Amino acid sequence: MALRLNAVDFHRPKCPCFALPTTASLRSPSFFMASTLRSASKEVETVKKPFSPQREVHVQVTHSMPPQKIEIFKSMENWAENNLLIHLKPVEKCWQPQDFLPDPSSDAFHDQVTELRERAKEIPDEYFVVLVGDMITEEALPTYQTMLNTLDGVRDETGASPTPWAIWTRAWTAEENRHGDLLNKYLYLSGRVDMRQIEKTIQYLIGSGMDPRTENNPYLGFIYTSFQERATFVSHGNTARLAREHGDIKLAQICGTIASDEKRHETAYTKIVEKLFEIDPNETVISFADMMRKKISMPAHLMYDGRDDNLFDHFSSVAQRLGVYTAKDYADILEHLVGRWKVESLTGLSSDGAKAQDYVCGLPRRIRRLEERALGRAKQAQRVPFSWIYDRDVQL
Ligand SMILES: [Fe+2]
Ligand SMILES: [Fe+2]
Repeated sequence: MALRLNAVDFHRPKCPCFALPTTASLRSPSFFMASTLRSASKEVETVKKPFSPQREVHVQVTHSMPPQKIEIFKSMENWAENNLLIHLKPVEKCWQPQDFLPDPSSDAFHDQVTELRERAKEIPDEYFVVLVGDMITEEALPTYQTMLNTLDGVRDETGASPTPWAIWTRAWTAEENRHGDLLNKYLYLSGRVDMRQIEKTIQYLIGSGMDPRTENNPYLGFIYTSFQERATFVSHGNTARLAREHGDIKLAQICGTIASDEKRHETAYTKIVEKLFEIDPNETVISFADMMRKKISMPAHLMYDGRDDNLFDHFSSVAQRLGVYTAKDYADILEHLVGRWKVESLTGLSSDGAKAQDYVCGLPRRIRRLEERALGRAKQAQRVPFSWIYDRDVQL
């Protein structure tokens, strides 16, 4: 999982509607947890955290799926066994980070590291900013496993639960764990980046968590993961393409291999949602519209390095400018999912369902229009220092 968006009109809302909670109120979950408070979910609080600066987090809505719908997920277990788990790769057939890295037990290790560093010298700083941001996003994997295990009806209840949902989540996490590991080791060996600043950013990010607004609701959760896996597929695919353009075939291979995992994961998550559309089209299309109204927040949106309060926005701007992940990609992914789930041809919906259908089907066009307008207003780009590359400036 990964990614960010710096799309037009898709910035985090800036509306501190409530007074700052004190540390004491942070300890009391009732302060900002409101069960099934869907209508209030547009409001934003500014939450002061003990380990990072004030980050914006939305009013927390929990358990928004009606409890009786848990049965749907129980009844899907056979289906998940036969249709979901087949998208996992046996460990023995999986690539491992070491397959792409110099072998520390070999006499050729030093030469291999020198070659890696020679190739990395040809790559511009701005590319490294994006690759570091992608790596940090991957490294916050504990947050994503936690997020999946917030979902009612599918969470891993024990840590070793035998349900296919829990098996999927653990094995998915184990596959994803290789992504951050490989990028981290590559970046370390490249000698181009400030590893200590990067490591601090990872620690801050895991400590901050994320706020995807999926409300313990597996309808929302699987729509979110479908979107995100495709977003990471696009992003890693683009860093692969750029690495090739900069003449580093081995780095291109690294990013491309990660992208192909993301594609397989996207296939699995979109199949779950496809099945939900078949079993419960009304709730599914309403959830899809709800998720899109709230906007898909990127997993690393709370990123901080101890210095730059707008680090995520700065990183997203560079990714947008380099074409690694853009507002257009956001609209393309949405359009792809609308087509993949055949949303336009759903019939027999309730009036709320039909409204949700109209909303999501018209949304890609609206996003594109907004994007064009924003491009027309685009200001002179600023240069900003990134601590990840020893405070060298990069154009946003
Ligand atoms: Fe992923
Ligand atoms: Fe990943």
